[in-house]
Amino acid sequence: MSDELEALKQLYKKYGQEHVFNFYDELSAQEQQELVQELRDVDVADLQECWEITQRGDQLLDTSAMLPIDEDLIGSVNSTKEDVLQNYEELALRAISDGHIGVLLLAGGQGTRLGVPYPKGMYDIGLLSGKSLYQIQVERILRLEELAKRLTGSSGKITMYIMTSDHTKTPTQDYFVKHNYFGALPEQIKIFEQQTIPAFNNKGKFVLRTKYNLARSPDGNGGLYRALREEKILEDMDKKEIRYLHVYCVDNVLVKVADPRFMGFCISRKAEAGNKVIEKGWPSEPVGVVVRIEDKVQVVEYSEISKENSELREKDGRLTYRAGNICNHFFEREFLKRVCREHEKKIPYHVAKKAIPFVDPETGIQIKPDSPNGIKLEKFVFDVFQFSKSFVVWECNREEEFSPLKNGEGAAKDTPSTAREALYALHRRYLKEAGAIFSGGAQDAAELSPIVSYSGEGLEAYANQSINLPVLIS
Ligand code: UTP
Repeated sequence: MSDELEALKQLYKKYGQEHVFNFYDELSAQEQQELVQELRDVDVADLQECWEITQRGDQLLDTSAMLPIDEDLIGSVNSTKEDVLQNYEELALRAISDGHIGVLLLAGGQGTRLGVPYPKGMYDIGLLSGKSLYQIQVERILRLEELAKRLTGSSGKITMYIMTSDHTKTPTQDYFVKHNYFGALPEQIKIFEQQTIPAFNNKGKFVLRTKYNLARSPDGNGGLYRALREEKILEDMDKKEIRYLHVYCVDNVLVKVADPRFMGFCISRKAEAGNKVIEKGWPSEPVGVVVRIEDKVQVVEYSEISKENSELREKDGRLTYRAGNICNHFFEREFLKRVCREHEKKIPYHVAKKAIPFVDPETGIQIKPDSPNGIKLEKFVFDVFQFSKSFVVWECNREEEFSPLKNGEGAAKDTPSTAREALYALHRRYLKEAGAIFSGGAQDAAELSPIVSYSGEGLEAYANQSINLPVLIS
Protein backbone atom coordinates (compact mmCIF):
# COMPACT_ATOMS: atom_id res chain seq x y z
CA MET A 1 0.00 0.00 0.00
CA SER A 2 1.34 3.41 -0.94
CA ASP A 3 2.12 5.91 1.78
CA GLU A 4 -0.51 8.24 0.39
CA LEU A 5 -3.25 5.63 0.54
CA GLU A 6 -2.30 4.71 4.09
CA ALA A 7 -2.35 8.39 5.14
CA LEU A 8 -5.76 8.86 3.50
CA LYS A 9 -7.16 5.82 5.29
CA GLN A 10 -5.88 7.10 8.61
CA LEU A 11 -7.39 10.52 7.96
CA TYR A 12 -10.83 9.10 7.17
CA LYS A 13 -10.59 6.78 10.16
CA LYS A 14 -9.81 9.73 12.42
CA TYR A 15 -13.15 11.27 11.44
CA GLY A 16 -15.13 8.02 11.62
CA GLN A 17 -15.45 7.75 7.84
CA GLU A 18 -13.30 4.68 7.19
CA HIS A 19 -16.26 2.83 5.59
CA VAL A 20 -15.55 4.70 2.35
CA PHE A 21 -12.73 2.18 1.81
CA ASN A 22 -14.93 -0.87 2.45
CA PHE A 23 -14.86 -2.03 -1.18
CA TYR A 24 -11.39 -0.79 -2.07
CA ASP A 25 -9.82 -4.23 -2.48
CA GLU A 26 -12.44 -5.44 -4.95
CA LEU A 27 -12.22 -2.35 -7.21
CA SER A 28 -10.37 -2.23 -10.53
CA ALA A 29 -7.16 -0.17 -10.61
CA GLN A 30 -9.01 2.64 -12.36
CA GLU A 31 -11.85 2.64 -9.84
CA GLN A 32 -9.35 2.68 -6.99
CA GLN A 33 -7.69 5.69 -8.54
CA GLU A 34 -11.03 7.45 -8.95
CA LEU A 35 -11.93 6.86 -5.33
CA VAL A 36 -8.57 8.05 -4.02
CA GLN A 37 -8.73 11.14 -6.19
CA GLU A 38 -12.17 12.05 -4.89
CA LEU A 39 -11.30 11.42 -1.25
CA ARG A 40 -8.10 13.42 -1.56
CA ASP A 41 -10.10 16.51 -2.56
CA VAL A 42 -12.63 16.32 0.27
CA ASP A 43 -11.89 18.56 3.25
CA VAL A 44 -12.99 15.86 5.65
CA ALA A 45 -12.03 17.73 8.82
CA ASP A 46 -13.96 20.83 7.80
CA LEU A 47 -17.04 18.87 6.75
CA GLN A 48 -17.01 16.90 9.97
CA GLU A 49 -16.98 20.16 11.90
CA CYS A 50 -19.86 21.53 9.81
CA TRP A 51 -21.82 18.36 10.47
CA GLU A 52 -21.28 18.71 14.21
CA ILE A 53 -22.35 22.36 14.13
CA THR A 54 -25.66 21.43 12.49
CA GLN A 55 -26.16 18.58 14.96
CA ARG A 56 -25.78 20.98 17.87
CA GLY A 57 -28.11 23.42 16.06
CA ASP A 58 -25.55 26.23 16.28
CA GLN A 59 -26.57 27.44 12.82
CA LEU A 60 -30.16 28.11 13.92
CA LEU A 61 -31.04 31.72 14.58
CA ASP A 62 -32.02 32.80 18.06
CA THR A 63 -35.30 34.44 17.16
CA SER A 64 -36.23 35.43 20.70
CA ALA A 65 -34.99 38.98 20.10
CA MET A 66 -36.28 39.37 16.58
CA LEU A 67 -37.95 42.58 15.44
CA PRO A 68 -39.53 43.73 12.21
CA ILE A 69 -37.22 45.46 9.80
CA ASP A 70 -36.98 49.27 10.34
CA GLU A 71 -39.55 51.19 8.31
CA ASP A 72 -36.98 53.61 6.96
CA LEU A 73 -35.15 50.78 5.20
CA ILE A 74 -38.24 49.83 3.25
CA GLY A 75 -39.43 51.15 -0.09
CA SER A 76 -42.60 49.99 -1.73
CA VAL A 77 -43.75 49.96 -5.29
CA ASN A 78 -47.29 50.71 -4.08
CA SER A 79 -46.57 53.72 -1.90
CA THR A 80 -43.82 55.36 -3.95
CA LYS A 81 -44.95 58.25 -6.13
CA GLU A 82 -44.95 57.76 -9.88
CA ASP A 83 -42.26 60.41 -10.54
CA VAL A 84 -39.96 58.83 -7.94
CA LEU A 85 -40.49 55.40 -9.47
CA GLN A 86 -39.58 56.90 -12.80
CA ASN A 87 -36.40 58.36 -11.32
CA TYR A 88 -35.40 54.93 -10.03
CA GLU A 89 -36.08 53.44 -13.42
CA GLU A 90 -34.05 56.02 -15.24
CA LEU A 91 -31.16 55.69 -12.84
CA ALA A 92 -31.03 51.95 -13.48
CA LEU A 93 -31.48 52.25 -17.24
CA ARG A 94 -28.59 54.72 -17.37
CA ALA A 95 -26.49 52.28 -15.35
CA ILE A 96 -27.44 49.58 -17.87
CA SER A 97 -26.33 51.78 -20.76
CA ASP A 98 -23.04 52.33 -18.94
CA GLY A 99 -22.65 48.56 -18.53
CA HIS A 100 -22.74 48.76 -14.72
CA ILE A 101 -25.57 46.27 -14.13
CA GLY A 102 -25.30 42.49 -14.35
CA VAL A 103 -27.58 39.66 -13.36
CA LEU A 104 -26.73 36.40 -11.68
CA LEU A 105 -29.01 33.46 -12.05
CA LEU A 106 -28.90 30.74 -9.41
CA ALA A 107 -29.38 27.58 -11.43
CA GLY A 108 -27.38 24.97 -9.59
CA GLY A 109 -30.28 23.30 -7.80
CA GLN A 110 -31.27 19.71 -8.50
CA GLY A 111 -34.98 20.46 -8.97
CA THR A 112 -35.91 17.21 -7.28
CA ARG A 113 -39.50 18.22 -6.60
CA LEU A 114 -40.16 19.08 -10.23
CA GLY A 115 -38.55 15.78 -11.10
CA VAL A 116 -37.17 16.32 -14.59
CA PRO A 117 -33.74 15.00 -15.54
CA TYR A 118 -32.55 18.31 -17.01
CA PRO A 119 -32.02 21.82 -15.58
CA LYS A 120 -35.19 23.58 -14.44
CA GLY A 121 -34.37 26.62 -16.58
CA MET A 122 -34.93 24.49 -19.68
CA TYR A 123 -38.44 23.60 -18.56
CA ASP A 124 -41.31 24.52 -20.88
CA ILE A 125 -44.31 25.36 -18.69
CA GLY A 126 -46.66 25.08 -21.65
CA LEU A 127 -46.90 28.73 -22.68
CA LEU A 128 -48.39 29.52 -26.11
CA SER A 129 -44.86 30.44 -27.24
CA GLY A 130 -43.32 27.24 -25.87
CA LYS A 131 -40.58 29.35 -24.28
CA SER A 132 -38.50 27.95 -21.45
CA LEU A 133 -37.68 29.82 -18.24
CA TYR A 134 -34.14 30.49 -19.51
CA GLN A 135 -35.45 32.01 -22.74
CA ILE A 136 -37.95 34.28 -21.00
CA GLN A 137 -35.21 35.59 -18.72
CA VAL A 138 -32.77 36.33 -21.54
CA GLU A 139 -35.46 38.10 -23.53
CA ARG A 140 -36.29 40.31 -20.56
CA ILE A 141 -32.63 41.31 -20.47
CA LEU A 142 -32.69 42.14 -24.17
CA ARG A 143 -35.79 44.26 -23.73
CA LEU A 144 -34.19 46.22 -20.89
CA GLU A 145 -31.13 46.88 -23.02
CA GLU A 146 -33.43 48.23 -25.70
CA LEU A 147 -35.29 50.46 -23.20
CA ALA A 148 -31.96 51.74 -21.88
CA LYS A 149 -30.79 52.51 -25.40
CA ARG A 150 -33.98 54.43 -26.16
CA LEU A 151 -33.44 56.53 -23.06
CA THR A 152 -29.73 57.25 -23.40
CA GLY A 153 -28.82 56.55 -26.99
CA SER A 154 -26.05 54.14 -25.99
CA SER A 155 -26.28 50.39 -26.06
CA GLY A 156 -24.92 48.84 -22.90
CA LYS A 157 -24.97 45.12 -22.30
CA ILE A 158 -26.24 43.28 -19.24
CA THR A 159 -23.96 40.34 -18.51
CA MET A 160 -25.86 37.27 -17.36
CA TYR A 161 -23.87 35.06 -15.00
CA ILE A 162 -25.40 31.63 -14.55
CA MET A 163 -24.35 29.56 -11.56
CA THR A 164 -24.75 25.90 -12.40
CA SER A 165 -23.55 22.75 -10.69
CA ASP A 166 -22.12 19.42 -11.70
CA HIS A 167 -25.37 18.14 -13.21
CA THR A 168 -26.74 21.39 -14.71
CA LYS A 169 -23.62 22.91 -16.26
CA THR A 170 -23.17 20.92 -19.49
CA PRO A 171 -26.88 20.73 -20.43
CA THR A 172 -27.24 24.46 -19.75
CA GLN A 173 -24.20 25.27 -21.88
CA ASP A 174 -25.40 23.03 -24.71
CA TYR A 175 -28.89 24.49 -24.53
CA PHE A 176 -27.69 28.07 -24.86
CA VAL A 177 -25.38 27.20 -27.75
CA LYS A 178 -28.13 25.26 -29.53
CA HIS A 179 -30.47 28.26 -29.29
CA ASN A 180 -27.89 30.90 -30.20
CA TYR A 181 -28.09 32.36 -26.71
CA PHE A 182 -31.66 33.44 -27.47
CA GLY A 183 -30.39 36.54 -29.21
CA ALA A 184 -27.86 37.61 -26.59
CA LEU A 185 -24.17 37.77 -27.43
CA PRO A 186 -22.28 34.61 -26.45
CA GLU A 187 -19.85 36.68 -24.39
CA GLN A 188 -22.79 38.14 -22.47
CA ILE A 189 -23.71 34.77 -21.00
CA LYS A 190 -21.15 33.44 -18.54
CA ILE A 191 -21.84 30.02 -17.14
CA PHE A 192 -19.89 28.88 -14.09
CA GLU A 193 -20.08 26.05 -11.59
CA GLN A 194 -20.57 25.80 -7.85
CA GLN A 195 -18.97 23.01 -5.86
CA THR A 196 -20.59 19.81 -4.70
CA ILE A 197 -19.99 18.32 -1.26
CA PRO A 198 -20.57 14.83 0.13
CA ALA A 199 -23.95 13.98 1.64
CA PHE A 200 -24.30 12.36 5.08
CA ASN A 201 -26.53 9.61 6.35
CA ASN A 202 -28.52 10.30 9.50
CA LYS A 203 -25.59 9.15 11.63
CA GLY A 204 -23.11 11.52 10.05
CA LYS A 205 -21.40 9.01 7.76
CA PHE A 206 -20.61 9.92 4.16
CA VAL A 207 -23.04 8.21 1.80
CA LEU A 208 -21.55 6.01 -0.94
CA ARG A 209 -23.23 6.46 -4.31
CA THR A 210 -21.26 3.59 -5.80
CA LYS A 211 -18.51 1.43 -4.37
CA TYR A 212 -15.98 4.03 -5.48
CA ASN A 213 -17.87 7.36 -5.42
CA LEU A 214 -19.41 9.46 -2.68
CA ALA A 215 -22.96 10.74 -3.05
CA ARG A 216 -22.53 14.46 -3.60
CA SER A 217 -24.80 17.44 -4.08
CA PRO A 218 -24.36 21.19 -4.68
CA ASP A 219 -23.62 23.16 -1.51
CA GLY A 220 -26.81 25.25 -1.65
CA ASN A 221 -27.46 28.57 -3.38
CA GLY A 222 -25.23 30.16 -0.74
CA GLY A 223 -22.43 28.20 -2.42
CA LEU A 224 -22.49 31.28 -4.63
CA TYR A 225 -19.87 33.12 -2.61
CA ARG A 226 -17.25 30.41 -2.78
CA ALA A 227 -17.99 29.98 -6.48
CA LEU A 228 -17.68 33.73 -7.11
CA ARG A 229 -14.17 33.53 -5.75
CA GLU A 230 -13.08 30.20 -7.19
CA GLU A 231 -14.52 30.89 -10.64
CA LYS A 232 -13.11 34.43 -10.70
CA ILE A 233 -16.48 36.05 -11.32
CA LEU A 234 -15.63 39.11 -9.27
CA GLU A 235 -12.54 39.67 -11.42
CA ASP A 236 -14.76 39.41 -14.47
CA MET A 237 -17.12 42.00 -12.98
CA ASP A 238 -14.16 44.27 -12.33
CA LYS A 239 -12.98 43.92 -15.90
CA LYS A 240 -16.42 44.67 -17.30
CA GLU A 241 -17.03 47.44 -14.74
CA ILE A 242 -20.19 45.78 -13.48
CA ARG A 243 -20.98 47.44 -10.17
CA TYR A 244 -24.37 46.01 -9.27
CA LEU A 245 -25.83 42.52 -9.49
CA HIS A 246 -29.38 41.29 -9.45
CA VAL A 247 -29.25 37.75 -8.05
CA TYR A 248 -32.34 35.57 -8.45
CA CYS A 249 -33.72 32.04 -8.60
CA VAL A 250 -34.33 30.21 -11.83
CA ASP A 251 -37.85 29.06 -11.10
CA ASN A 252 -39.90 32.26 -10.83
CA VAL A 253 -41.69 32.72 -14.16
CA LEU A 254 -42.59 36.33 -13.35
CA VAL A 255 -39.10 37.40 -12.27
CA LYS A 256 -38.32 40.96 -13.33
CA VAL A 257 -34.73 40.33 -14.27
CA ALA A 258 -32.60 43.40 -13.37
CA ASP A 259 -35.84 45.21 -12.43
CA PRO A 260 -34.98 48.91 -12.98
CA ARG A 261 -37.22 50.10 -10.16
CA PHE A 262 -35.65 47.73 -7.64
CA MET A 263 -32.13 48.31 -8.92
CA GLY A 264 -32.65 52.09 -9.09
CA PHE A 265 -34.07 52.16 -5.55
CA CYS A 266 -31.09 50.22 -4.17
CA ILE A 267 -28.56 52.31 -6.10
CA SER A 268 -30.16 55.59 -5.01
CA ARG A 269 -30.03 54.46 -1.39
CA LYS A 270 -26.35 53.52 -1.80
CA ALA A 271 -27.18 50.06 -0.52
CA GLU A 272 -24.59 47.32 -0.32
CA ALA A 273 -27.35 44.74 -0.36
CA GLY A 274 -31.07 44.77 -0.92
CA ASN A 275 -33.91 42.30 -0.90
CA LYS A 276 -37.14 42.37 -2.84
CA VAL A 277 -40.06 41.03 -0.83
CA ILE A 278 -43.75 40.31 -1.16
CA GLU A 279 -46.28 40.52 1.62
CA LYS A 280 -46.51 37.16 3.34
CA GLY A 281 -50.07 36.02 2.84
CA TRP A 282 -50.93 34.04 5.96
CA PRO A 283 -49.10 32.99 9.15
CA SER A 284 -48.21 29.47 8.03
CA GLU A 285 -47.27 30.36 4.47
CA PRO A 286 -43.90 28.65 3.87
CA VAL A 287 -41.81 31.70 2.99
CA GLY A 288 -38.90 33.13 4.96
CA VAL A 289 -39.26 36.66 6.33
CA VAL A 290 -36.71 39.46 6.56
CA VAL A 291 -36.25 40.62 10.16
CA ARG A 292 -33.78 42.37 12.39
CA ILE A 293 -32.01 40.44 15.13
CA GLU A 294 -29.71 42.56 17.29
CA ASP A 295 -29.05 45.12 14.57
CA LYS A 296 -28.39 42.50 11.94
CA VAL A 297 -30.66 41.81 9.03
CA GLN A 298 -31.57 38.14 8.75
CA VAL A 299 -33.99 35.98 6.85
CA VAL A 300 -35.83 33.74 9.27
CA GLU A 301 -37.02 30.60 7.53
CA TYR A 302 -40.62 29.56 8.02
CA SER A 303 -39.42 26.53 9.96
CA GLU A 304 -37.56 28.80 12.40
CA ILE A 305 -40.25 31.36 13.26
CA SER A 306 -42.40 30.69 16.32
CA LYS A 307 -46.16 30.32 15.91
CA GLU A 308 -46.76 33.40 18.06
CA ASN A 309 -44.44 35.57 16.01
CA SER A 310 -45.81 34.29 12.73
CA GLU A 311 -49.34 35.21 13.86
CA LEU A 312 -48.57 38.70 15.22
CA ARG A 313 -50.53 41.42 13.43
CA GLU A 314 -50.38 45.19 13.13
CA LYS A 315 -53.34 47.47 13.88
CA ASP A 316 -54.25 47.48 10.20
CA GLY A 317 -54.52 43.68 10.27
CA ARG A 318 -51.35 42.98 8.30
CA LEU A 319 -48.87 40.44 9.62
CA THR A 320 -46.09 42.05 11.65
CA TYR A 321 -43.53 39.72 10.06
CA ARG A 322 -44.66 39.96 6.48
CA ALA A 323 -41.54 40.83 4.46
CA GLY A 324 -41.60 37.57 2.50
CA ASN A 325 -38.34 36.58 0.86
CA ILE A 326 -38.65 35.64 -2.83
CA CYS A 327 -34.97 35.19 -3.65
CA ASN A 328 -34.51 38.48 -5.51
CA HIS A 329 -31.43 40.20 -4.24
CA PHE A 330 -29.36 43.27 -5.01
CA PHE A 331 -25.63 43.20 -4.33
CA GLU A 332 -23.00 45.81 -4.82
CA ARG A 333 -19.72 44.42 -6.15
CA GLU A 334 -17.45 45.72 -3.40
CA PHE A 335 -19.74 44.19 -0.80
CA LEU A 336 -19.50 40.84 -2.55
CA LYS A 337 -15.73 41.13 -2.53
CA ARG A 338 -15.77 41.75 1.21
CA VAL A 339 -18.10 38.80 1.79
CA CYS A 340 -15.91 36.49 -0.26
CA ARG A 341 -12.75 37.70 1.43
CA GLU A 342 -13.86 37.89 5.06
CA HIS A 343 -17.04 35.96 5.65
CA GLU A 344 -17.53 33.21 3.08
CA LYS A 345 -16.11 30.40 5.19
CA LYS A 346 -18.29 31.29 8.16
CA ILE A 347 -21.62 31.24 6.32
CA PRO A 348 -23.46 28.43 8.11
CA TYR A 349 -24.70 25.23 6.53
CA HIS A 350 -28.35 24.33 6.96
CA VAL A 351 -29.80 20.84 6.97
CA ALA A 352 -31.87 19.51 4.08
CA LYS A 353 -33.29 16.03 4.59
CA LYS A 354 -33.39 14.16 1.27
CA ALA A 355 -33.83 10.71 -0.22
CA ILE A 356 -30.33 9.81 -1.38
CA PRO A 357 -29.68 6.66 -3.46
CA PHE A 358 -26.80 4.74 -1.94
CA VAL A 359 -24.71 1.59 -1.81
CA ASP A 360 -25.01 -0.26 1.47
CA PRO A 361 -21.48 -0.04 2.94
CA GLU A 362 -21.77 -3.57 4.38
CA THR A 363 -23.47 -5.53 1.59
CA GLY A 364 -22.63 -3.43 -1.48
CA ILE A 365 -26.27 -3.53 -2.55
CA GLN A 366 -27.63 -0.45 -4.40
CA ILE A 367 -30.68 1.06 -2.66
CA LYS A 368 -33.04 3.79 -3.90
CA PRO A 369 -35.01 5.05 -0.91
CA ASP A 370 -38.49 6.63 -1.26
CA SER A 371 -38.22 8.78 1.83
CA PRO A 372 -35.40 10.90 3.30
CA ASN A 373 -32.52 8.74 4.50
CA GLY A 374 -29.82 11.34 4.61
CA ILE A 375 -28.78 14.93 4.89
CA LYS A 376 -27.42 17.42 2.43
CA LEU A 377 -25.72 20.47 3.85
CA GLU A 378 -26.67 23.69 2.12
CA LYS A 379 -25.70 27.33 2.48
CA PHE A 380 -28.31 30.02 1.79
CA VAL A 381 -27.67 32.98 -0.47
CA PHE A 382 -29.37 35.41 1.92
CA ASP A 383 -27.19 34.55 4.90
CA VAL A 384 -24.82 37.39 3.96
CA PHE A 385 -27.32 40.22 4.52
CA GLN A 386 -26.07 40.43 8.10
CA PHE A 387 -22.66 41.59 6.86
CA SER A 388 -23.96 44.59 4.92
CA LYS A 389 -23.48 48.07 6.27
CA SER A 390 -26.40 49.47 4.30
CA PHE A 391 -29.34 47.26 3.53
CA VAL A 392 -32.73 48.05 2.02
CA VAL A 393 -35.96 46.21 1.31
CA TRP A 394 -38.21 46.75 -1.71
CA GLU A 395 -41.81 45.60 -1.45
CA CYS A 396 -43.53 44.48 -4.60
CA ASN A 397 -46.77 42.74 -5.56
CA ARG A 398 -47.02 39.00 -5.68
CA GLU A 399 -49.26 38.85 -8.75
CA GLU A 400 -46.76 40.93 -10.72
CA GLU A 401 -43.55 39.34 -9.59
CA PHE A 402 -43.77 35.94 -7.98
CA SER A 403 -44.96 32.58 -9.20
CA PRO A 404 -42.37 29.88 -8.62
CA LEU A 405 -42.17 26.54 -10.34
CA LYS A 406 -41.31 24.02 -7.65
CA ASN A 407 -43.51 20.96 -8.20
CA GLY A 408 -44.72 18.73 -10.99
CA GLU A 409 -48.24 18.93 -12.40
CA GLY A 410 -50.87 17.67 -9.99
CA ALA A 411 -49.29 19.08 -6.84
CA ALA A 412 -51.32 21.56 -4.77
CA LYS A 413 -49.23 24.60 -5.68
CA ASP A 414 -46.27 26.04 -7.57
CA THR A 415 -46.76 23.82 -10.61
CA PRO A 416 -46.34 24.42 -14.36
CA SER A 417 -50.08 25.29 -14.56
CA THR A 418 -50.00 27.81 -11.73
CA ALA A 419 -46.91 29.48 -13.23
CA ARG A 420 -48.49 29.62 -16.68
CA GLU A 421 -51.78 31.01 -15.37
CA ALA A 422 -49.97 33.66 -13.31
CA LEU A 423 -48.14 34.87 -16.40
CA TYR A 424 -51.30 34.90 -18.52
CA ALA A 425 -53.23 36.81 -15.82
CA LEU A 426 -50.50 39.44 -15.63
CA HIS A 427 -50.28 39.83 -19.39
CA ARG A 428 -54.06 40.13 -19.70
CA ARG A 429 -53.85 42.88 -17.14
CA TYR A 430 -51.09 44.70 -19.03
CA LEU A 431 -53.19 44.60 -22.19
CA LYS A 432 -56.31 45.73 -20.38
CA GLU A 433 -54.46 48.62 -18.78
CA ALA A 434 -53.29 49.60 -22.27
CA GLY A 435 -56.96 49.77 -23.28
CA ALA A 436 -57.38 46.49 -25.18
CA ILE A 437 -60.85 44.96 -25.34
CA PHE A 438 -61.00 41.20 -25.15
CA SER A 439 -63.26 38.94 -27.09
CA GLY A 440 -63.19 35.19 -26.61
CA GLY A 441 -63.03 33.66 -23.12
CA ALA A 442 -62.02 36.45 -20.75
CA GLN A 443 -59.80 34.02 -18.84
CA ASP A 444 -58.09 32.62 -21.92
CA ALA A 445 -54.39 32.86 -22.50
CA ALA A 446 -52.62 36.10 -23.31
CA GLU A 447 -48.87 36.06 -23.68
CA LEU A 448 -46.64 39.02 -24.45
CA SER A 449 -43.13 38.34 -25.63
CA PRO A 450 -40.64 40.09 -23.32
CA ILE A 451 -39.15 41.51 -26.50
CA VAL A 452 -42.40 43.48 -26.93
CA SER A 453 -42.94 44.55 -23.32
CA TYR A 454 -40.97 44.20 -20.10
CA SER A 455 -43.70 45.18 -17.65
CA GLY A 456 -46.66 46.50 -19.60
CA GLU A 457 -44.94 49.38 -21.42
CA GLY A 458 -45.02 49.83 -25.17
CA LEU A 459 -48.57 48.58 -25.69
CA GLU A 460 -50.13 51.89 -26.79
CA ALA A 461 -51.09 50.41 -30.16
CA TYR A 462 -53.62 48.14 -28.39
CA ALA A 463 -55.74 50.99 -26.96
CA ASN A 464 -59.37 50.36 -27.92
CA GLN A 465 -58.28 47.41 -30.04
CA SER A 466 -60.29 44.26 -29.91
CA ILE A 467 -58.15 41.22 -29.12
CA ASN A 468 -59.42 37.73 -29.56
CA LEU A 469 -58.12 35.47 -26.80
CA PRO A 470 -56.09 33.31 -26.71
CA VAL A 471 -53.38 35.57 -28.07
CA LEU A 472 -49.62 35.50 -28.37
CA ILE A 473 -48.08 38.89 -29.07
CA SER A 474 -44.49 38.64 -30.22
P1 UTP B 1 -34.63 25.30 -4.29
O1 UTP B 1 -34.29 25.39 -2.86
O2 UTP B 1 -36.03 25.53 -4.68
O3 UTP B 1 -34.09 23.94 -4.84
O4 UTP B 1 -33.69 26.33 -5.04
P2 UTP B 1 -34.21 23.27 -6.25
O5 UTP B 1 -32.95 22.53 -6.45
O6 UTP B 1 -34.55 24.23 -7.35
O7 UTP B 1 -35.42 22.29 -6.09
P3 UTP B 1 -35.61 21.02 -5.11
O8 UTP B 1 -35.60 21.56 -3.71
O9 UTP B 1 -34.50 20.05 -5.38
O10 UTP B 1 -36.95 20.52 -5.54
C1 UTP B 1 -33.92 27.69 -5.10
C2 UTP B 1 -32.96 28.27 -6.12
O11 UTP B 1 -31.63 28.08 -5.71
C3 UTP B 1 -30.89 27.41 -6.73
C4 UTP B 1 -31.94 26.68 -7.53
O12 UTP B 1 -31.45 26.39 -8.83
C5 UTP B 1 -33.08 27.66 -7.51
O13 UTP B 1 -32.88 28.68 -8.46
N1 UTP B 1 -29.90 26.53 -6.10
C6 UTP B 1 -30.29 25.64 -5.15
C7 UTP B 1 -28.60 26.61 -6.50
O14 UTP B 1 -28.25 27.42 -7.38
N2 UTP B 1 -27.70 25.77 -5.92
C8 UTP B 1 -28.03 24.89 -4.97
O15 UTP B 1 -27.15 24.16 -4.47
C9 UTP B 1 -29.37 24.82 -4.56
